[in-house]
Amino acid sequence: MSDATFQAPVGTHDVLGPESQLWEGVIATFAQLAYRYGFSMVVSPLFEDVGVFHRGIGEASDVARKEMYVFEDRGGRRLALRPEGTASLVRAFVQHHPVTPWRAWYLTPAFRYERPQAGRYRQHHQLGVEVLGSDDPAIDVEVIALAVRFFRALGITKFRLLINSMGHDACRGAYVEVLRRYLGEHEGELCDEHQKIWSSNPLRVLDCKKPSCVAVTTRGPQLPDYLCDDCRTHFASVVRGLDAIGIASVLSPRLVRGFDYYTRTTFEFVSDVLDSAQNALGGGGRYDKLAEELGGDPTSGIGFGVGVERLLLVRAAEGVSAPLLKRTIDLFVIDTTTQDAATTLVDELRGAGFAVLRAYDQRSMKSQMKVADRSGARLALLIGPQELDSNEVTIRDLRSQDFEQAQTRVPRSAIVSAVAQQLSK
Ligand code: HAM
Repeated sequence: MSDATFQAPVGTHDVLGPESQLWEGVIATFAQLAYRYGFSMVVSPLFEDVGVFHRGIGEASDVARKEMYVFEDRGGRRLALRPEGTASLVRAFVQHHPVTPWRAWYLTPAFRYERPQAGRYRQHHQLGVEVLGSDDPAIDVEVIALAVRFFRALGITKFRLLINSMGHDACRGAYVEVLRRYLGEHEGELCDEHQKIWSSNPLRVLDCKKPSCVAVTTRGPQLPDYLCDDCRTHFASVVRGLDAIGIASVLSPRLVRGFDYYTRTTFEFVSDVLDSAQNALGGGGRYDKLAEELGGDPTSGIGFGVGVERLLLVRAAEGVSAPLLKRTIDLFVIDTTTQDAATTLVDELRGAGFAVLRAYDQRSMKSQMKVADRSGARLALLIGPQELDSNEVTIRDLRSQDFEQAQTRVPRSAIVSAVAQQLSK
């Protein structure tokens, strides 16, 4: 085999079968659930004016400062590949004024120039939902419940839901000032990076995973203690609602997440079976100011994104191997005559709804049989010179060891009903 001249870029992956069947299963499971919760699929561009992300996720966020793929197109526009889905979806909402509450689900690649490692890629894929047009805490509960139901449908059970409230502008603003003062007093104890930038966006220090920053912020002032009455009540309703439907949550006062758009409820699902560097299965929260930030009318919003690659890693780490979709081949057609008979037979059977494969290139009977066996098909349909003469097809059950019992010959004109009957046995 010759070496490939080109490889997939660092931090990206090709997903081929049979692994891709798991992807199909994960996506189909999510689409079905999203439909049950009243969401419609939204497809939007993979690149946007860079301003959508600078304003949306915040210029000071790690992703915007260090990880975004920004480029100029031939028309001189400054564009960025989407590092996440929310800002783009809210941009689409502001542009199209759909009826609210707007419930959108999506599957998108997301691009971040990260240091590649297991579970952390430069192109990953997110399944997500966003709801715009209401700040009712019942929606926060529904959105979180959808994610939990999704994980369970995939067989994932070893995870925790971390939750916090970031408050709204006024109460968060007051907290940020207190935090800034506190960080100023402890500047020398922060990690190198945050010693330089703690003052411009103190909340980012809460998101830092380095032990030095964690130690300082754990001892410092905590966001939930500064919430105003409205935000406190909102948060209590969310936690109560989750409790009422049997979803346990762990209050995490330092959970501010990596983007500047979050307000009030923020949450993250962490797996107990992965390393802490990539144990987030998914996360999300409210962003009640984002639509305004992107030029729209004030509109509350909430959503989450989960990483498909992470889901599959966690599923494997939890030892779940059950297939998510039934993907079996029903029939394999073998034609040792001119192969024209196979062409019409395969077409008719696929038209009738069966999953059908066949052999090509005029191979011998023995070689076609080998391919049929390897295909995992339930039945082989054989057309040899005898069958062609008598206008019949031989059906062979590939799972039966008994050669005599395994074979029957049926008229070509009755093949669809004969096959259906055999498959139902
Ligand atoms: P995020 O936490 O940045 O949130 O990403 C969501 C999920 O995508 C993560 O929990 C993780 O499973 C996966 N993920 C993130 N980065 C990578 C990576 N480099 N490699 C592999 N998987 C990764 C968001 O993106 C928000 N838009 C979520 C949201 C929706 N908030 C409100 N609505």
